[in-house]
Amino acid sequence: MNPVIPARKIPARNFQYRGKQETDLACEGVSLARLARVYGTPLYVYSATAIRERVQMFNEAFAGVRHALCYSIKANSNLSILRLLAGMGVGFDIVSGGELERARRAAKKSLRRIVFSGVGKTAAEMDAALAADILMFNVESAAEMELLEARARHLRQRAPMALRVNPDVFAETHPYISTGLHEHKFGVAMAEARALYRRAARSKHLLPVGISVHIGSQIQNAAPFGQALQRVRELVADLAAEGIRLQYIDAGGGLGISYKLEEPFDPSTLLERYAHAMRSALGDFDGELLLEPGRFLIAQAGALVAQVLYVKKNGSKTFVVTDAGMNDLIRPALYQAHHAIVPLRRNPKNQATVVDVVGPVCESGDFFARDRAMPELVAGDGVAILDAGAYGMSLSSNYNSRPRAAEVLVDGSRHTLIRRRETMRDLLAAEMLLR
Ligand code: LLP
Repeated sequence: MNPVIPARKIPARNFQYRGKQETDLACEGVSLARLARVYGTPLYVYSATAIRERVQMFNEAFAGVRHALCYSIKANSNLSILRLLAGMGVGFDIVSGGELERARRAAKKSLRRIVFSGVGKTAAEMDAALAADILMFNVESAAEMELLEARARHLRQRAPMALRVNPDVFAETHPYISTGLHEHKFGVAMAEARALYRRAARSKHLLPVGISVHIGSQIQNAAPFGQALQRVRELVADLAAEGIRLQYIDAGGGLGISYKLEEPFDPSTLLERYAHAMRSALGDFDGELLLEPGRFLIAQAGALVAQVLYVKKNGSKTFVVTDAGMNDLIRPALYQAHHAIVPLRRNPKNQATVVDVVGPVCESGDFFARDRAMPELVAGDGVAILDAGAYGMSLSSNYNSRPRAAEVLVDGSRHTLIRRRETMRDLLAAEMLLR
């Protein structure tokens, strides 16, 4: 059951009720109601402190292991957030030429710390990444390896590469975000990998430097990560025996969080377990471990702030209609994802009601919560949809010709606009009118 009237303290997040009676929801030192007034809604708000804390947490959990973080840009690709992370020595996991360009603009020095993943890299994307001198390409098929070799030959370079192997490990998560089984499109089978590494080692234009694995996303259990890495570690040992020595093991991303306020969740305990599973699987590997977290670093650092437009009743159902919609945050519609929703002003006297929280988009799938017990809301109230920092803005769209939300970064008592709200001019800029 949801906490109907939110508690004063929201666990594991830098969003807390503040003020004399602890009724005003704030991100760090800044009231969200105030941000909603200044910047309008829907509005993404992120806590810089929360992001830094998660990076430090990672580095502490992996202390003593030679490791590097390559933040997965797809989780949240805002330039200022990328810059903040690069400033802490974090590199990037990219999946497109567009993400390469974002990394370049956020921090040039981060280019050397980039791993390039994805099953469909184009020749142009490979060329751009070769020119940028990235750390390595995570190659996902024999055909891709051939193209990479051809592009490197053309540019008279040697492409540093890893094979992304498919460890055939089951990770309990939503089927749309599970990737580590043979039935998925990702990676090459372990059995096929050996032959490909031998071929790469003979090539004048390929340089096998690593191996990578990624089994899925929102995985809240350390065991499958350990199993996958164990299989990878065995392959690394076999290859070393043949003289193919890999310096990098890239363990991918995928560590989950708890989206439920009522679930006790301590991120550092989960991270410790994850790190422990990794250490055991790595054994005496003397290279560097690369990690590609996305969600774990950024999800809980962000909230989507919206305003209630209407409360309407249809028969026995009550709908709270907000000015944010599925185009702003599609996770509930796409993955049946749960996001906690809390009012910007906490009023312990409010009655609880069971409602659907929905957006204005013309789709029945446009909802944030269904049959959820919430404190009573009226038109004009503000709400925060929590844990929306990852795969929120980055998966947003202009569906229904809705300009995308603005984004604000809070650091202590400072708040900075890091993306302005889109205008209709932005939306129409690429279109031509038929004459
Ligand atoms: N590395 C690779 C190769 C990936 O494919 C992904 C995510 C990551 C790292 C980062 O995973 P994370 O640490 O964030 O779990 N849109 C979905 C999640 C899709 C994940 C795609 N790949 C969601 O909103 O739940």
